[in-house]
Amino acid sequence: MQITPNNAGLGARVEGIDLARPLSPEDFRTVLRALGQYGVLCFPGQDLDAAAVSAFGARFGELEVNVANLFHAPGHPEVMHLSNMKDAAGKPIGLSDAGQGWHTDMSYSKEIALANVLHAKRVPRRNGKAVGCTQFRNMHAAYDDLPAEVKQRIEGRSAIHDFAKFWDMMRIRPGSIRGPLTPEQRAKKPPVPQPMVRVHPITGRKVLYCNSGYAMFVEGMDRAESDALLDYLFRHQAQEKYFYEHEWNEGDVLMWDNIGTLHNAVADYGPDEPRFILRVQVMASLDYAALAA
Ligand code: OGA
Ligand code: MN
Repeated sequence: MQITPNNAGLGARVEGIDLARPLSPEDFRTVLRALGQYGVLCFPGQDLDAAAVSAFGARFGELEVNVANLFHAPGHPEVMHLSNMKDAAGKPIGLSDAGQGWHTDMSYSKEIALANVLHAKRVPRRNGKAVGCTQFRNMHAAYDDLPAEVKQRIEGRSAIHDFAKFWDMMRIRPGSIRGPLTPEQRAKKPPVPQPMVRVHPITGRKVLYCNSGYAMFVEGMDRAESDALLDYLFRHQAQEKYFYEHEWNEGDVLMWDNIGTLHNAVADYGPDEPRFILRVQVMASLDYAALAA
């Protein structure tokens, strides 16, 4: 297995490994460490079915079954279909989250996510150039760069994160196929507090864990002060120097760290530019500090 960092501060290519086969314990540890260090790992040229994507993801933690569970692989509720494609009857075959803005998956959940694993089967391209890229930001670096006074203000503080902030924002967009959250879905995902600073379980370093997709306000802080602080943090983390963009190729398996990065799906492709991706969400259910040691 060769790991080639791409010098953007985030992102590395991992080659010389077939993810359709079980990971050896050494390879598992190497991949886990690289995930913490580089944030976004691309394994190019893979060919996995839903069961194999699920098996690879499940090595790293429990797989989440999405609360709205709209589209998934047959027999694999944990493997979501991300797509803008339609079947012969004109019905959508996947959920497309493009245009959702910057967020961290599962920050709205009491149990947070370690990683996402996405496997591209179809990638839209226009005039030879990939569209539908996925963008990332480095929250290890964003934390490190905060002024000492801001680090102090957010240490030990929590922000309230709410799944509905994001869902409702997506729902009102033109062409959305999302319905209102049902009372049952809402009850499963109530607003939750999340520490604004976390020690990353793989790297042991602090990260800024706060994203504009789900964070509503700082718990126990005057609302105006909270708004100003979140606004400051969202601008701070949006700086160009933390940015990395992944251009997809068919066969890519992309695994990203959901504790140390934010991500955004670029909505620059149309309904006649097919994109199809298999996806699992890995929950942070294991002792990664011990596994990475
Ligand atoms: C996700 C997501 C990005 C993309 O899977 O959580 O935000 O580019 N996807 O599809
Ligand atoms: Mn996401």
